[in-house]
Amino acid sequence: MRILVLGGGGREHALCYMLSKSKYLKALYCIPGNGGISKVAHIPPEISLTDFDKIAEFCLKERIDLVIPGPEEPLVKGIRDFLTTRGVRVFGPDRWASQLEGSKAFAKEVMKKAGVLTADFVVFNSYEEARAYVQKKDSPLVVKADGLCAGKGVFVCNSKEEALEALKKIFIERVFGEAGDKVVIEERLEGEEASYIVITDGEHFKALPTSQDHKRLYDQDKGPNTGGMGAYSPAPLITPEIKTQIEENIILPILKTLKEEGHPYLGFLYAGLMISEGKPYVLEFNCRLGDPEAQAILPRLENDLLEVLLSALEGNLKSLTLKEKEKASVCVVMASKGYPEKYVKGLEISGLDEAESLEDIIVFHAGTKKEGNKFYTNGGRVLGVTALGDTIPKAKEKAYKAVSLIHFEGAHYRKDIGDKALKYLG
Ligand code: AMP
Ligand code: GLY
Repeated sequence: MRILVLGGGGREHALCYMLSKSKYLKALYCIPGNGGISKVAHIPPEISLTDFDKIAEFCLKERIDLVIPGPEEPLVKGIRDFLTTRGVRVFGPDRWASQLEGSKAFAKEVMKKAGVLTADFVVFNSYEEARAYVQKKDSPLVVKADGLCAGKGVFVCNSKEEALEALKKIFIERVFGEAGDKVVIEERLEGEEASYIVITDGEHFKALPTSQDHKRLYDQDKGPNTGGMGAYSPAPLITPEIKTQIEENIILPILKTLKEEGHPYLGFLYAGLMISEGKPYVLEFNCRLGDPEAQAILPRLENDLLEVLLSALEGNLKSLTLKEKEKASVCVVMASKGYPEKYVKGLEISGLDEAESLEDIIVFHAGTKKEGNKFYTNGGRVLGVTALGDTIPKAKEKAYKAVSLIHFEGAHYRKDIGDKALKYLG
């Protein structure tokens, strides 16, 4: 098969890395790709991921059999609908179902309809009404801009003042533009977060290995939120009992509801969960793989990934068995100095070969660029260094050994990826 992956982060490198090993693969392309992806896929001249006409043209010219979008934006803008009518298959949900990620209010309504456990919420279209609501509430609140805000639209508030401030930013200053036309205000939940990602054909699903992201910039979850500073898998927080609850009370009812609405969900479905007093609550749905979760999860799969995706496309997922490696994984993100705010690009990266020559290490590239034989930084999150090991502590040790061999000026990484698992491991 001739495959086109869309995206250029660590998640897309992990996808391309897995696809490049498939016995069904004839050719692999990635747009825009990155320095590391160029080792396993062709990188064509850049096309914007929302220029669907140009992407369609490329697909027809290169006889692409399947497009796999990595990030949410093309999905939420309807790439599946657009390319499907032009005879190109897409592994991902249609525009309507992608609103699960594209609109927080939509996701909440679907959860309500499906009877899925989630924080109590109210949706507001106006500043005045939202403000009046906040002024009357005494419980801790979370204020969320409705639309896509590149991970910045959620305000977990410690006081009424913070909630009012968030409303002002969204409705008055309009820092998120149209994405802030609506606001979801919900109760603040306490607990521990985990990521649960499935591959589904709309009716049946296969759960990928469990994982936990590390969203804050600094150790012990201090500092500002980021796209994710590291992940590990499996997440022992997800016990077999909680797994059953997730599958029976969240995934299946959501799939059933979407199917009944006439939009069976095809693709990766990511549930961001809060485990609170032994019960899983949904914080958010994403219509894609997580980043950096993918870099921790995918290397633990025994299966030929393309075969799994094809069986979902053909509606045969039920008869397929997903096999997880016995090994655990830890992925440490190395970021540019200054990320998630301002940072410089174009710094030389050294030590990649030494790191990759270690056993059980894969260095996934995110913001990198290759020039000649050298790699340079080209984004906020630069690398995701993944190690496999017999246990999470062993994988952690290997990952940090590899990280210590890699250098670029000002490189920042957390030192505690995987530690959250320790309390469950005895
Ligand atoms: P979201 O994009 O909706 O997942 O929100 C981003 C982050 O905000 C989550 O990963 C949580 O850390 C936090 N968050 C979102 N909703 C809630 C909630 N209802 N209670 C507590 N924390 C939340
Ligand atoms: N790592 C969180 C996300 O991909 O949304």
